[in-house]
Amino acid sequence: MEPVNNGDLSAFHMEKGHLVLGSGWHPSLFRAEVDSLTGVIKILTPRIVLTNSSSGLDDSATVDQILAQPGIGSVSTLSNSFSEWLSDNPLNKNDSIAVRWSRHGERKPGVKGIELAKEMGGILTDAGYKIELENPEQVIELLIDGEELYWGYPLLKEPPRKGWKERVATQRPFFKPVSLDPRHARLMLNLAGTKGPLLDPMCGTGGVLIESASSGIESTGVDLDPEMVAGTLQNLEWSDTKARVICGDATRLSELDITGIRMVCFDPPYGRNAWRSDSTPELFSSVLDSLHSVCNYEAVMCCMLPSTPDGALVMGMEWQDIEKLFSSAGWKIDGDWFIPVHASLGRRLVRAERLQS
Ligand SMILES: C[S@@+](CC[C@H](N)C(=O)[O-])C[C@H]1O[C@@H](n2cnc3c(N)ncnc32)[C@H](O)[C@@H]1O
Repeated sequence: MEPVNNGDLSAFHMEKGHLVLGSGWHPSLFRAEVDSLTGVIKILTPRIVLTNSSSGLDDSATVDQILAQPGIGSVSTLSNSFSEWLSDNPLNKNDSIAVRWSRHGERKPGVKGIELAKEMGGILTDAGYKIELENPEQVIELLIDGEELYWGYPLLKEPPRKGWKERVATQRPFFKPVSLDPRHARLMLNLAGTKGPLLDPMCGTGGVLIESASSGIESTGVDLDPEMVAGTLQNLEWSDTKARVICGDATRLSELDITGIRMVCFDPPYGRNAWRSDSTPELFSSVLDSLHSVCNYEAVMCCMLPSTPDGALVMGMEWQDIEKLFSSAGWKIDGDWFIPVHASLGRRLVRAERLQS
């Protein structure tokens, strides 16, 4: 991460809590991802959470900003709470400073960001700081939700989604419409935890493998279609990452010399994309069974399942039947999120843990 504020920020990483702001794309996935990466102490608003640390958030798919030395107040108490916070969290008075503001939730009539920033600027001036709006050496960022206010020292110049534009599926040498977006691949990895070895049993064009291998996770991909296997290898070479890729059947993984897997991330085929296979639920059920045999106890799986546009039916089944499908293969679902895709398709991102037997 490249810090916005100059000076030594290492103490901020270690000592006090952090305010973490989500991108707004999917607030509940944001909270789940941050919780999985670093642990959420408190949910302050749908898009702002308090964490102990900022470590682990560098590869987040949903974080927009991290504020160190958090300050919390409201429109009516700003003057007192900001003055108190400033005396507890002094910055370098030789460096110029500015307050930046942004709104991330409810808009309350009469609550004006510019006015609040000016009020904070007045308190800074009275305390002996040099205000410089164009090119400040230090920044305090103010987040507004309704009448609630959150502020701190921003740690990120930009959201931590480095290289996504370059790695987007359509930029890869081997592209198919089924190719996973880096955001979805990264989310699955982050929700599953970062401990490899990882397996994508239906790796397609390698969307998951590119992200996992680029994070240094020992990764294996399997696909039944030789064209996909060749394409994945081509994409891995293009992204300068390495993974083991096997042409094989995800319903017979134990025959492929794969053992000790601790993370599984994948999206099974759906509709016309199923390739020389059973229809999706039967195939998926066999894959769950087969995964159980190559995974360690407490391995975590994240998968993206096709659903109706409202998320009600998953692979054509009611949700309780999906839960039964997982549990009868030895997996316990511990999280699921609906992701709208387009007018005729949705997705359920499911996280499950491998049970002992
Ligand atoms: C939705 S695609 C996966 C897309 C992939 N995540 C990507 O980023 O390109 C599903 C893949 O499952 C593969 N597949 C279908 N049946 C399979 C089986 N029995 N064993 C292994 N792979 C299979 C298909 O060839 C297809 O590439």
